[in-house]
Amino acid sequence: MAHPHTIAVAGKGGVGKTTTCGMLIDYLCKKNRGPVLVVDADANSNLNEVLGVEVETSLGQIREEIAQAELKGTIPASMTKADYADFKFNSALIEDDDFDMLVMGRTQGKGCYCFVNGLLQRLMDKYANNYSYVVMDNEAGLEHVARGTLPHVDTMLLISDCSRRGVQAVARLAEMINEMELNPTQMGLIINRAPNGVLSDGVKAEIDKHGLKLIGVLPQDEAVYQCDCDGEPSARLPENNPVKTALRGIMQSLGL
Ligand SMILES: Nc1ncnc2c1ncn2[C@@H]1O[C@H](COP(=O)(O)OP(=O)(O)OP(=O)(O)O)[C@@H](O)[C@H]1O
Ligand SMILES: [Mg+2]
Repeated sequence: MAHPHTIAVAGKGGVGKTTTCGMLIDYLCKKNRGPVLVVDADANSNLNEVLGVEVETSLGQIREEIAQAELKGTIPASMTKADYADFKFNSALIEDDDFDMLVMGRTQGKGCYCFVNGLLQRLMDKYANNYSYVVMDNEAGLEHVARGTLPHVDTMLLISDCSRRGVQAVARLAEMINEMELNPTQMGLIINRAPNGVLSDGVKAEIDKHGLKLIGVLPQDEAVYQCDCDGEPSARLPENNPVKTALRGIMQSLGL
């Protein structure tokens, strides 16, 4: 199978990266574009809630288990440490009906994500070609880009709220992506939570000023907000939900 098409999101905190990921995963699955590999690369993972799937384990947790097993000498004698680690990490893949998912999670101890980052890359190298799409939810800012640990991205979606300052923040991220020579095949801006789905002229001017490519606007939507309040998965909202409808249009315009 050919290389998977990798879609990643970037933006400042709370702008709707995870919500967008959830709905676009739902879109790809409904369009039978699978198999889809979902990667929750946010240490404070919550993409599963938006999708409505249970997560029992993360790479961070498994990493701790391996360290413990090594300390206690409970690694089976028939296995090398590397074999054991491989065996354990295969259990990190969460299989849902429509997609598989890897959750990076947090590492305890010294709070270094390097190990989990490296691990994620190894797993991606190993598994990614089994999928036609990889969708990666990231934490606010661009830690993974800054560390050079993001895999190659085909479609980078910059997400901003409907504010000048939001656009300024995302323009800085775009600059960083360029400086880090991440070279996504395509990169575009999505404005989320626009009142009535309408972009104000001031925000539009700010987008132009920074030379960002606007690919779509998602409306502020009560049902999406309510899902969060009620702990319901927003990705499973009906297809006529205004945010879902707008996102479908964006995906189609991107040829996805
Ligand atoms: N279009 C929308 N209309 C109404 N509420 C929205 C919309 N998009 C996102 N929200 C709400 O905004 C909040 C933040 O969304 P989300 O978690 O997707 O942002 P995020 O960018 O992933 O945040 P973080 O940086 O913390 O990971 C959630 O309560 C979500 O339900
Ligand atoms: Mg998020």
